[in-house]
Amino acid sequence: MSLEIPKSMNALVGNRSLITRLSNYACGSASGDGVKLATIPVPKIGDNEILVQVTCVALNPTDFKHIDILSPRGAVIGCDFAGTVARVGANAPGNWAVGDRVAGVTHGGLYTDRGSFAEYVKTSGEFAWKIPSSLSDEEAATFGVSAVTAMLALNVRLGVPWIDGGEDEGRSKTPILIYSGASAAGLFAIQLAKLAGLTVVTTASSRSHDLVKEYGADDVFDYQSPTAVEDIIRAYPNIDRAMDCYSQGSSMEFCADVVRKSRGWVVTLLDPGKKDYDGVKMDFLLAYTALGQEFQWLAPFGPKFGKVPSDVAALRRFYASLPVISKLLQSPPLKEIEGGLESLSVGLNLLREGKVFGTKLVAHIS
Ligand SMILES: NC(=O)c1ccc[n+]([C@@H]2O[C@H](COP(=O)([O-])OP(=O)(O)OC[C@H]3O[C@@H](n4cnc5c(N)ncnc54)[C@H](OP(=O)(O)O)[C@@H]3O)[C@@H](O)[C@H]2O)c1
Repeated sequence: MSLEIPKSMNALVGNRSLITRLSNYACGSASGDGVKLATIPVPKIGDNEILVQVTCVALNPTDFKHIDILSPRGAVIGCDFAGTVARVGANAPGNWAVGDRVAGVTHGGLYTDRGSFAEYVKTSGEFAWKIPSSLSDEEAATFGVSAVTAMLALNVRLGVPWIDGGEDEGRSKTPILIYSGASAAGLFAIQLAKLAGLTVVTTASSRSHDLVKEYGADDVFDYQSPTAVEDIIRAYPNIDRAMDCYSQGSSMEFCADVVRKSRGWVVTLLDPGKKDYDGVKMDFLLAYTALGQEFQWLAPFGPKFGKVPSDVAALRRFYASLPVISKLLQSPPLKEIEGGLESLSVGLNLLREGKVFGTKLVAHIS
């Protein structure tokens, strides 16, 4: 079976100069969409890669952050996708066949030939998974950055047992704090922790309390309450781990305060910097390290990131298990941005303006 593959395709690409992006970084804001719709070549795949005709994408805050600060002009935006396999590299792992339904994640926003906000995306055969018939493409597309981040934080960094079995280092006995449980990463983290048998304590504003309980949280505290930290410690004195799914403002301090007495540790999703958290280990996680390629932000001056083989192995394991365990996991509530590639900026602006609560934005590409 073969699909007709054109030579060129439409894609949403970054369109900000380096000077604009450095200025956005310095002042912490950006104006305009910072992207344009372009016609570019369909990516050429390597031997271990597959080419996917994209049907659906999910949007993440990292997409607009790349556009505003990190993406060179012409880099294809977007990480999460679902679609149909259109071409298979000679040695691509995963036993893929043209026509298979597939979802996955790629390192969007840095490269001119790699990004999901496009009619075709390429990725390594092992960073994609077969969508079971129980899942729609929209749902499957959400198992990218948010789900991978939750898995890395819990199963790799915080010693939470994998839900597909295997080693338990005794870490299922103590409760865990998921800060900002209503975020997309938080909703996946709540489920992974709950399915592993942990007591799941979370924070959310009152508008999201029902949502986080529906996804499995045992207890929820309002992060806006001035007594939230003491309330959590009083109710769960042995709590010793936290995943901070917000990682801004006072959230890292909040998480550190909760686990300090137990000499615990916190996984953050944004860089905690050099601040001393008074004995609490702060572990900054970047989902891209699971994609097996070194990369640099704001090259040639910015920070470089190496491969983290344990993260790569974890992603391989997670995606190999997803065709089965996705039946136990619920994607976050979906909200569709209509209008395809041309309208993705509408969704990116909602994320940029902090107007997305307890939902995952998805869009149809074809
Ligand atoms: N390092 C990485 O690899 C990585 C990976 C994924 C995400 N991230 C980062 O992690 C963050 C979350 O990403 P996401 O996609 O999961 O986010 P998201 O789904 O867009 O998060 C939305 C949620 O944030 C919560 N929120 C809004 N304002 C808040 C505040 N002041 N304090 C606490 N919570 C607040 C809201 O919950 P309530 O309704 O409860 O207010 C809302 O439901 C982003 O900054 C993203 O860039 C990093």
